[in-house]
Amino acid sequence: MVFRFTTLDACIQDAQVIDHYDVGEAQVYITSTGKYLIKEPSLSQEEYNIYAKVSEHLMNSLPFIDKLETDGEKIHHLEAHVWQEAQETGQVEKISKFFDRLRYYIVREVIGYGIFDVLVRDDDVEEILAERFDTDVGVIHRRHSELHILDTNIVLGRSDEMNSYVSRLMQRTGKSVNISKPIMDGTTMAKHRIMVTYGNEVSVNGPTITIRKFPAKPYAITHLLKFGTISRLMAAYIWLLIDAKAFGLIVGETGSGKTTLINSLMTMVNPRWRIITIEETPELQIPQKRVLSLRTRTSPLIRSDNDIDIMELIRASLRMRPDFVIVGEVRGREANEMFQSAATGHGGLSSIHGSDIGSALTRLAAEPINIRPSQQMLLWFAVHSTRLKGSDGRSMRRIRSLAEINPTDHGITSTTLFTYDRKTDSFGLDDIDELVRKSKRLNHVAELLGIEPASDLKKRIGLLDECIEKKAYDIPAVFAILKKYYHDI
Ligand SMILES: Nc1ncnc2c1ncn2[C@@H]1O[C@H](COP(=O)(O)OP(=O)(O)OP(=O)(O)O)[C@@H](O)[C@H]1O
Ligand SMILES: [Mg+2]
Repeated sequence: MVFRFTTLDACIQDAQVIDHYDVGEAQVYITSTGKYLIKEPSLSQEEYNIYAKVSEHLMNSLPFIDKLETDGEKIHHLEAHVWQEAQETGQVEKISKFFDRLRYYIVREVIGYGIFDVLVRDDDVEEILAERFDTDVGVIHRRHSELHILDTNIVLGRSDEMNSYVSRLMQRTGKSVNISKPIMDGTTMAKHRIMVTYGNEVSVNGPTITIRKFPAKPYAITHLLKFGTISRLMAAYIWLLIDAKAFGLIVGETGSGKTTLINSLMTMVNPRWRIITIEETPELQIPQKRVLSLRTRTSPLIRSDNDIDIMELIRASLRMRPDFVIVGEVRGREANEMFQSAATGHGGLSSIHGSDIGSALTRLAAEPINIRPSQQMLLWFAVHSTRLKGSDGRSMRRIRSLAEINPTDHGITSTTLFTYDRKTDSFGLDDIDELVRKSKRLNHVAELLGIEPASDLKKRIGLLDECIEKKAYDIPAVFAILKKYYHDI
C-alpha cells in the first residue's frame, strides 16, 4: 500500500494565500504564486507505525471489503477491524487517542484514492496532471484557472511507487494496465476519466497520470445559462430542434466543454424518451430515466474478433428502439455509420474534435471518412464550443458559433445563426422573430410538429427563465419545470 504524507510547504506562511477551504478533514490553501497546498491530519512517528501495522493486516481483507456495496458498509468494516486489532494488541487506549486521524488515512487508502484523495474529492479541481514521479502533481482549478496549472505539494516520489499507484487507479475503472498494455484509459464510477501510461514503455520519464474530472453533480442547462456559455434563445432553439429528432454535432478542441454541453443539453430533452449512448470511455451522464448506455469492448493485448467497436454498437442501437442516440465522440469511419443511422429517424448528437465548424464538416466529407452529400444533409445543426480567457485571465466556456445546416441541390449549406462577440459577451442574434426568419429548419420543424415557431420558442425561453429564477440546478428541479412544456403542449 503506497503511503505518503502530503507535507505542507514551509513557505506557506510567507506566500499570499488567496483561497482556503476544507475538503473533508483536510485543508486546501491556494497561493498567488500558483500553489495548491494540502494539509492533511498529521501522525507522529509512533502513530504512523501503528497505522502501518493495522493497514498491513487490512490488506488481507481487501477482497472482502471491495465486495461490500456502499462506502458506509466499508467504513463500518474498517472501523470494526481497527478496534478488533486494538483489543488483540492491547492498544485500545493508544488508538482511542488518535482514532479519527487513523481512520482518515485508512479510509483514504482503502476506499479513497490514496495520495490523490483530496484532489479527487475537491469538486473545484478540474484536472489532475502528473508527468513524472519526481515532480509535483499539477491541478487545474475551476475557480482559479487564471493561474493555469497549479503546483501541489504531492510528489509520487519513486517510479515503482507511481507504477503501483497507476495500476491501482486503473483497477478502480475495472481495467488493468501493465507492460504489454502500457497506455490505458477508463472512467471511474464517479465518471472521472483517467488516462495513464505505465513504466517507461511509451513514456520516456516513467509513469504518467491525467485525470479529467466532472463536477459531482453534472451541470444542467441552468448552469450553462448562468455561466454565459449559451444564450436562452440558443438553448430554446436547440431544444426545439431536438424535440423534432434533429441530428446535431458539437465541434471543439480538447477540454472546450463538448461532453459537458451534451450532458446539459440533455437536461432539456423530453424526460420520457429512450436515449441510447455509445462511447469508448463512458463519460456521459444523461438524466433521463430510460438511458441505455453502450460502451466498446477491446481486448487488452491485441486486436481480436471479440472486439466490439463504435460502429457495431451504432448498428445494434438501431434495433433498440431509440428516440435519441448519442455517440460520445467520433473520429473516423464510425462517423459514417452515425450519419447512416441518422437516416432511420431517431434524433442524435455527437462530438468531434476540431477548431471550427467549417473544417470539421470538410474533414467529414473528405477521405478517409468520406460522408457523401446525401448523408451530410441529415445533419441539422453544428455548434462550436470553445474555452476562452476572460479579461480576468480565467477560463470561460462559450459557444463560439451555432450554424444551421440545410440541404441544397448539390450538398449542404451552413448558415451561421449565432456568433459569439467577445466585446459584449453575447451571441449576436437575440430576437425570436429574426431567428424564425433566418432559420429554415425552424419552419420545417414547425410544420412537422404543428406548432407556431415564435410562440413555441417564447414558451421554452419562459421555462428556461423559470429554471434560473427558481435556481433549479439539480436534475429533478430542472425536469420539474421543463416537463411542463410537454404536459400542456
Ligand atoms: N460551460 C462550462 N462552464 C464551466 N466549466 C465547464 C464548462 N464546460 C466544461 N467545463 C469543465 O471543463 C472540463 C472539460 O469539459 P469537457 O470534458 O466537457 O470537455 P471536452 O471538450 O469534452 O473535452 P475532451 O475533448 O477532452 O473530451 C470539465 O471539468 C468540465 O466540468
Ligand atoms: Mg469529451
